[in-house]
Amino acid sequence: MRKKLLMGNWKMNKTNQEAKEFVEACGDIVKLAKEHNIDVGVAPTFLALCCAKKHAPEGLIISSQNVHHLTNGAYTGEVSTEMLQAINVNWAIIGHSERRTYNNETSEACNLKIKKLLSAKMVPLYCCGESLETYDKGETKAFVKDQIVKGFKDINKEDASKVVIAYEPIWSIGTGKNASKEIAEDICGYIRSIIKELYGEQVADQIRILYGGSVKPNNIKEYLSSPNIDGALVGGASLKIDSYKELLTNIL
Ligand code: 13P
Repeated sequence: MRKKLLMGNWKMNKTNQEAKEFVEACGDIVKLAKEHNIDVGVAPTFLALCCAKKHAPEGLIISSQNVHHLTNGAYTGEVSTEMLQAINVNWAIIGHSERRTYNNETSEACNLKIKKLLSAKMVPLYCCGESLETYDKGETKAFVKDQIVKGFKDINKEDASKVVIAYEPIWSIGTGKNASKEIAEDICGYIRSIIKELYGEQVADQIRILYGGSVKPNNIKEYLSSPNIDGALVGGASLKIDSYKELLTNIL
């Protein structure tokens, strides 16, 4: 039985003080999540990670939104897994479509980052998803398959099962135009079938696949009641504590 996961991606939002106030208000949420065997977490900016981690209740996952694939050196603006681990941050989102679009991040670059995270015993949350143009052309599956195959290149079976995948169609992010439950289930099921092709049934059964894109308290339940969707990666609706709590209570 795969453990459900609710992850808030804060993107470029919240000062340290705002992040502190939010995580300090998460006590009840974490308690409730634990009672129902659900993982909950948020991904603040690099700047707010240390502060969020320091003030978060035990059990609230604090994830980075990115990481570099090397340990240190002349890479202005970058942060390594060693730096994250030094503040006890053990998760990182990789390959979010906004990073692919605005920072030219490729699936090959994501693969290096995923491998670095796994070698550091950290959890990569690897995002995939197609543009509206690709969706309209009916090429979603081929596109997503390419992202998955490239992202998992040279990753062994044991490590593969530790990766969390998020399917986020770009056309549904921040637009309020969420993919239907049927589309989300179809693609998440397809991703699971690719993992099965690559690693066999056991890994495919273990790996967690999330849906993301305009997930709100009023629609989260329909996604999470689908057999191949193990959780949600949520942007806008994870920014306010009341709405974040409602996301959780609505899937209990
Ligand atoms: P929204 O929930 O705001 O559509 O964002 C989704 C997302 O990109 C999460 O990573």
